[in-house]
Amino acid sequence: MPVWNVKNILEWAINYFSCKEVPQPRLSAELLLGSVLGLDRVNLYLNYNRVLNNQELATYKKYILERLEHTPIQYILNEAYFRKIKLYVDEKVLIPRPETELIVDKVFQILKDSLNKREIDIPGKDKINILEIGTGSGAIAISLANEILDELKVSGKVPGELTDEFPEELWEIVATDNDSSVLDIAERNAHSILNNNKFNKIKFIKCDIVPAEDSDFFKKHAGGFKIIISNPPYISEKDYENLPREVKEYEPKNALLGGETGLEIYERILNKIKPYINQEFCYILFEIAPLISTPLEKMSKDILKPSLIKVDKDYNGRERVMIIKI
Ligand SMILES: C[S@@+](CC[C@H](N)C(=O)[O-])C[C@H]1O[C@@H](n2cnc3c(N)ncnc32)[C@H](O)[C@@H]1O
Repeated sequence: MPVWNVKNILEWAINYFSCKEVPQPRLSAELLLGSVLGLDRVNLYLNYNRVLNNQELATYKKYILERLEHTPIQYILNEAYFRKIKLYVDEKVLIPRPETELIVDKVFQILKDSLNKREIDIPGKDKINILEIGTGSGAIAISLANEILDELKVSGKVPGELTDEFPEELWEIVATDNDSSVLDIAERNAHSILNNNKFNKIKFIKCDIVPAEDSDFFKKHAGGFKIIISNPPYISEKDYENLPREVKEYEPKNALLGGETGLEIYERILNKIKPYINQEFCYILFEIAPLISTPLEKMSKDILKPSLIKVDKDYNGRERVMIIKI
């Protein structure tokens, strides 16, 4: 029996994954072994001669078998990184994608610009209230909550005494999803990542798109939101059939499939959010794929008659975030 150390087991696993055509063989082998040993990827290479004990070997073997079935690494390890946070994920929720981080930057940019131009007035009567539709793991909503105070402080428009204890009037986030098991995960993530003050300022609501007009929520929030964000399911039926095995077999269909053309959920959102829009100040931000940019722009103009629509590209130069100003 060979003695398995970091060096030889990594070489073996990379080779094995490559032969079996597992995507990203080196990354897979390294991340899974790093998790078993509690080492990041750099430290794996600094501990090349470290010998694995039987327990570690058994865990690594289990991970390798799961990966051979094309299970995404994030589901094997039940963790995904997004901006500054680590989220619990399993097959009930979409794995948050790096390109989705951009929409959070865009929200902060809009808020900072608007504070600078005095289009909103903080502190004062203008609470920053944000509605996220289709929160999944909570990646976007929790990142906003996690970073908002620091981001707005940097703008210099929030007074120096602003701290986490300066709560009520400043901001709140409402995050919806139509699947309660998904919301359980988002709430669990919020609870483990955020401090109590911040956690108490996010509300998770199970509903189809947004709460109905006869709900108490509607009575309280109608006409109110300044920022409305969504990364909805936007894969068309045809594209869904051709998704890689890792995505199609493991990630939730409800998080991916956006009807025949990919535009179905956007259309439902545009129609249902109308009563929630703050008519004096509201930006709507959608994550998009380049293919749907043009039809979605037309649809948004027809339904909301906004004052401005622009589309920003991601770091790969692909159209990624549509910003609609009311
Ligand atoms: C593409 S995922 C985005 C998840 C997360 N916001 C992210 O960016 O990683 C879309 C989410 O919308 C939810 N969803 C799908 N249809 C919905 C509906 N009709 N109403 C509310 N949420 C919905 C799904 O459960 C899923 O969590």
